[in-house]
Amino acid sequence: MTIRPLVLGLLLASLTEPALATAIEHVRRGGIHLPLFRTEARQADVRKRDTNSAGIGVGDFLDVTYNVLVQVGGIETPLVLDTGSADLWVISKACTGNCSSTVPLYPQTTFQSTGQNVQLLYGDSRTGTHAAGPIGKDSAGVAGLAVADQYLASIIDTNTTLLETGSAGIFGLGFPAISVLWRQLIQAQLNEEPPTISGRALADVDFRRTPFPSFDFLTKTISFEHHKRQNTSLRSSPEVIASFDTYGPLFTRLVADHRLAEPMFATTLQRDSIDIGGNVGQLSIGELPAGIKSDSLTWVPLRAYTPQEGGLPPSSDAPHEVYPLVWEIAVDDVYFDGAKLARSQLSSPSITLSALIDTGNSLMRGPQDVVAQIYTTLGGETFDCALPHNLTFVIGGKLFPVDPRDFVLPALSDTRDGCVANLASTDPPGAGFLYSWSLGDPFLKSVLAAFHYGNLTHPSQDPPRIGLLSTVPADSGARLQSAVSAAADNGGAFTATSHLAPSGTFVASTTGVGGVPQATAVPANTTTADATPVVSSAVRTPVPVVLLWAFCALVLGLSYL
Ligand SMILES: *[C@@H]1O[C@H](CO)[C@@H](O)[C@H](O)[C@H]1NC(C)=O
Ligand SMILES: *[C@@H]1O[C@H](CO)[C@@H](O)[C@H](O)[C@H]1NC(C)=O
Ligand SMILES: *[C@@H]1O[C@H](CO)[C@@H](O)[C@H](O)[C@H]1NC(C)=O
Ligand SMILES: *[C@@H]1O[C@H](CO)[C@@H](O)[C@H](O)[C@H]1NC(C)=O
Ligand SMILES: *[C@@H]1O[C@H](CO)[C@@H](O)[C@H](O)[C@H]1NC(C)=O
Ligand SMILES: *[C@@H]1O[C@H](CO)[C@@H](O)[C@H](O)[C@H]1NC(C)=O
Repeated sequence: MTIRPLVLGLLLASLTEPALATAIEHVRRGGIHLPLFRTEARQADVRKRDTNSAGIGVGDFLDVTYNVLVQVGGIETPLVLDTGSADLWVISKACTGNCSSTVPLYPQTTFQSTGQNVQLLYGDSRTGTHAAGPIGKDSAGVAGLAVADQYLASIIDTNTTLLETGSAGIFGLGFPAISVLWRQLIQAQLNEEPPTISGRALADVDFRRTPFPSFDFLTKTISFEHHKRQNTSLRSSPEVIASFDTYGPLFTRLVADHRLAEPMFATTLQRDSIDIGGNVGQLSIGELPAGIKSDSLTWVPLRAYTPQEGGLPPSSDAPHEVYPLVWEIAVDDVYFDGAKLARSQLSSPSITLSALIDTGNSLMRGPQDVVAQIYTTLGGETFDCALPHNLTFVIGGKLFPVDPRDFVLPALSDTRDGCVANLASTDPPGAGFLYSWSLGDPFLKSVLAAFHYGNLTHPSQDPPRIGLLSTVPADSGARLQSAVSAAADNGGAFTATSHLAPSGTFVASTTGVGGVPQATAVPANTTTADATPVVSSAVRTPVPVVLLWAFCALVLGLSYL
């Protein structure tokens, strides 16, 4: 793995950029959103309960992982922002593996262990990684909003590459039903006997997909064994849904504790490679970013999974509820370079086309035959970087193109050797999750995405949903071409950088399409408007980008993606 020191060197070069630290506004809390005005730093007071919205800047490791500072038991450390999973885990100071780190590790000083351990396994048998440690509770929070007694995994043994990408763990923003910790804790409560190590909790033969959760233990407790999926009256006991409030993921506990103006968060992700800039990196909590109106977004409901589809069985006191599992929404159609792509032949046409919206995934993944069709149109694996391509998802009747700058990745160190697509294939839907596409960071850099939980315990009362606002500028193709010519003048290398997760929000001096705050000025050729010091000086990437790509694949192998 000779690529790692190279990438790590690049990371360190950018992380020590002192200008970055001074560029950060230390706005800790109080509903401050972008565009920002400067205010004095204020200490977060985790006990005060008057804050119901907040914002925090997002760190970016070469567009491969995005992270935010999360408070856990007295420290604040960057954790990967992951809408594709629902657990909070952080590498402990007691970590015994290769855990040398530039970011703070969890000291465990106020950790209250449950006596249970969790073993999180990612990847397949050949490329697998693991993270293991005790489950316990501690205070935890984000952007000055905190809760006591948050369950988390204190990782003491791992061989994931997370630390090398500047993150100390994972901040899962998904629903309780897919949380490994929630499942293990409620299982222990129901059985009155805590399991120790839960085997291959997240094991999956295909490392590209998060494994589908099993709720068999819930139906077993009401002594029902046979033909579960044919039985239309599967129920769980009321204490199962009620346990969301205590055992649920951090963000859903902020919601349950009525800490937020609205049970939602929104992301805009910056672009730190190809053409640095784009939207400002920001996690908005409890409301949309300032200046953005809810009705300017296209809102679509999440897919709910019935018990027959393997979903969470409803409680006997709310038997008609059907719960979401993941941030998954219907996709009407997919277009590539103006032509509608045929539906995949690899899954049943009766499965509604849908996509997982996943901040923890650095690629876009789709059905193998559809991805192959796109490569056929491209004329092969490698294509001319300067020709803008248009992959567009139709969602809620609106077009959501992927910015052509987010579609490409240089095939080698020199852009004149061509580009590859930020696109890979994944297994067809069917047994388990029903989504065909997993839209990761390339898609999320091209939109403002709002994730609204609705009513977590009674989704029928307020359905969970995602709102999207496209932020792709009209001249995005021309901007790709400028970035490619700039790279040619630069020995063929695109620019790339990394941002540390700030303790406040970034300063945005301009807004782009839809009024969304921008990381750098628009257009990129004017230096006067480019007053924002948000982006550290561009680091030329001397890293052979195919290696960078391989590194991404390794990081992807963690499958928190
Ligand atoms: C990580 O550990 C697992 C055992 O849990 C092992 O099978 C795997 O090969 C290791 N992966 C790496 C990348 O070292
Ligand atoms: C430990 O990890 C660091 C980077 O995180 C790496 O540079 C070093 O080579 C690793 N050491 C061993 C023994 O694997
Ligand atoms: C379905 O499950 C319930 C328990 O949840 C059981 O009482 C009922 O008999 C089952 N129905 C069938 C048709 O198996
Ligand atoms: C991208 O494709 C969509 C769907 O075909 C089309 O409506 C849109 O105009 C295209 N955008 C550009 C910039 O070509
Ligand atoms: C969710 O719906 C239930 C049932 O209507 C209601 O009792 C509860 O207050 C709702 N929760 C929130 C946070 O509004
Ligand atoms: C910047 O580009 C725009 C078009 O993209 C052009 O109209 C303008 O003149 C350029 N400004 C400078 C200073 O080159």
